[in-house]
Amino acid sequence: MITGKYPELRLRRSRKYAWSRRLVEENNLSPNDFVLPIFLIDGKNKKQKIKSMPDVYRYTLDKLNSIVDKALKIGIPMIALFPNTQKKKKNAFGSEALNEDNLVCKAIQLIKKKYKNEIGLMCDVALDPYTSHGHDGIINKEYVLNDKTVEILIKQSLLQAEMGCDVIAPSDMMDGRIGRIRKALDKNGYETTQILSYAVKYASSFYGPFREAVGSKALLKGNKKNYQMDFRNSDEALREVALDIKEGADMVMVKPGLPYLDIIKSVKENFKIPVLAYQVSGEYSLLSNSINKGSFNKDLILESLISFKRAGANAIISYYADKLDKILK
Ligand code: PBG
Repeated sequence: MITGKYPELRLRRSRKYAWSRRLVEENNLSPNDFVLPIFLIDGKNKKQKIKSMPDVYRYTLDKLNSIVDKALKIGIPMIALFPNTQKKKKNAFGSEALNEDNLVCKAIQLIKKKYKNEIGLMCDVALDPYTSHGHDGIINKEYVLNDKTVEILIKQSLLQAEMGCDVIAPSDMMDGRIGRIRKALDKNGYETTQILSYAVKYASSFYGPFREAVGSKALLKGNKKNYQMDFRNSDEALREVALDIKEGADMVMVKPGLPYLDIIKSVKENFKIPVLAYQVSGEYSLLSNSINKGSFNKDLILESLISFKRAGANAIISYYADKLDKILK
């Protein structure tokens, strides 16, 4: 690999000028590499702060345009919707997930009507925004029942597809759900609806601020370790991805992001499939809060984002996506 030696060889030569560094750069970012998560809330005329996530908000439906317009202006290809469901609408079965008048369904219809196919729309498939216990599925004690949950997730996926969702993103980690959802979509005429599988999702402490944002944090009983992955494992990640690809996933996700760059790299090396990295809420809070004391350090953020590209991610789901105009400047 290495040809030549010092003093004939000086690697610093190509670093001397900005033009030269630009010329040999191996990775870069563009708005095309991003997905913007958007939190929804009931009510009117609200853009509501989220305590642990500076500069991230929950939007009422009448305020959605402002953030979608921003995403379009920056040139982001896709947004992801996450609902903050009122507590009184939550129950043990998460039945609000199947209500065609729920927040996500209304938002999908509004956005599709106004923006057509100018921007992609992705929706999580999982029950945690809707359950009174904060788990992603139906539980017995604290064990999430796999097959019973999958039956509901299939219905949730079909409903979202019917509303106009482009990319169905199961984030629940149930076994076998990708295949079952793919079959159901195809059978109902949604054979062009994509599936982005949260194939490798670790039981992580980095999801805290997200759970505050969707209102499941205070409700969550125990933890999600009987379905989300153990962060001690990496071989298991490859098995998860292999299965989901076989079952029909169009894209796979690794989540969280920064502590799992090794996993992104090995998924990309082992499977030639689009890999998305989720820079999750806890990462966002850490980067935005502690290190910068609230101020916006664009170089620090850029460095963290580029690491995903270096590891091999095709795209990044990030709460910085609507701030790219400042970061990529
Ligand atoms: C729901 C879901 C979670 C996230 C995305 N979808 C939380 C969880 O599984 O507890 C986390 C995203 C983030 O932290 O930014 N299943």
